Amino acid sequence: MRMYDVIAKKKHNEELSTEEINYFVNGFTKGEIPDYQVSALLMAIYFNKMNERETVDLTMAMVNSGDKLDLSKIEGIKVDKHSTGGVGDTTTLVLGPMVAALGIPVAKMSGRGLGHTGGTIDKLESFKGFSMDIAEEDFIKNVNEIKIALAAQTGDLAPADKKIYALRDVTATVDNLSLIASSIMSKKIASGADAIVLDVKVGKGAFMKTPEDVKDLANAMVSIGKSIGRETRAVISDMDQPLGLAIGNSLEVVEAIETLKGNGPKDLMELCLALGSNMVLLAKKASSLEEAREMLMESITSGKALEKFKDLISAQGGDASYIDDTSKFEKAKYIVPVVSEKSGYVKRINAENIGIVAMELGAGRATKESVIDLAVGIVLNKKRGDYVEAGEALAYIHSNHEEKIEKAKNDIIKNYELVSEYKDDIPLIFDVIK
Ligand code: URA
Ligand code: CA
Repeated sequence: MRMYDVIAKKKHNEELSTEEINYFVNGFTKGEIPDYQVSALLMAIYFNKMNERETVDLTMAMVNSGDKLDLSKIEGIKVDKHSTGGVGDTTTLVLGPMVAALGIPVAKMSGRGLGHTGGTIDKLESFKGFSMDIAEEDFIKNVNEIKIALAAQTGDLAPADKKIYALRDVTATVDNLSLIASSIMSKKIASGADAIVLDVKVGKGAFMKTPEDVKDLANAMVSIGKSIGRETRAVISDMDQPLGLAIGNSLEVVEAIETLKGNGPKDLMELCLALGSNMVLLAKKASSLEEAREMLMESITSGKALEKFKDLISAQGGDASYIDDTSKFEKAKYIVPVVSEKSGYVKRINAENIGIVAMELGAGRATKESVIDLAVGIVLNKKRGDYVEAGEALAYIHSNHEEKIEKAKNDIIKNYELVSEYKDDIPLIFDVIK
């Protein structure tokens, strides 16, 4: 087989065979096929697309390019959740303990974030002593004993995806449906999930900006899961404004704790219940979504989900007393209100731009080498549909650098759109694809 012929075939809009897909994925992973030929093929795929069969083959070729996590020693059905980005997304920290409190194994691999705020690992490092560098043995033991463990990505899961993604990033070929769907699903499948719930965001702060595009992406991922026997569902939700109120690492951890105590923002709680009830259903612990939802709500009112969060933090070396006393988390030196000069209803908060402001304050990584400041970020005081009086705070800036505050204030004000009349008609959950 010659790479030249594979490229030419896709250039002529023909379907690639399973062998051809395996050939280029394996050859590229081993370094036998050069970047420039794979770049050319990616651009041909970008323009001529892949069908469902090709997309499944690409996914499996990437899964088979490296290690696969063996979770067979964990009892029960392992349901994983994946969120497709977003701003101020704290769902993992809330959902993990809620679902584990019902006896469902949560064996989650997470990464460090490159974006507006850190990933789950970064956030949990707000707890003194907490570590996600745990051995595979301890990971499995913890899930069997307390039903939950979170680990930094170990081993060499889907290395082909890592290489191909890096190339897509610099060749303007990221935003292709088959390439995104196979990239996300290959990592989930390699990390051993029996069933997968996808939290797919749509809107300004998301990867896909329109409901049509996002529905196609969700359908593509669900059909990949199904075709290889891993039941998959996708919950499509709004990311036109940030989720919850907190954007920043420790700030989001505190928000997650408040939510587990039953005092969280309504939208964050609602999305966690929607995702969680689908997870409980796929884990076969409930016979209907309604029953699953009741069970999850009970995990909050009984305090069991909060206890489970403490179990997780303690089991991985963290100081769980922070959960009872959240004043122990490190705080930013300056906490200043962003005051509105006008009155009106909040019509829109540009999630993407607000995320960038948080990153500039130090909450996220602009490059892989950036060091995150866990204490800084933004806490919103007003969300879509809220009325703001002139002189009231739209949000609070948490900064460790006085000189960053003025620009952050102006940027936040610019990204709040106020109107004199407003009727809320954007739902939080658009659709569930199954
Ligand atoms: N996230 C991924 O992991 N892969 C993509 O291609 C896009 C988003
Ligand atoms: Ca949040």
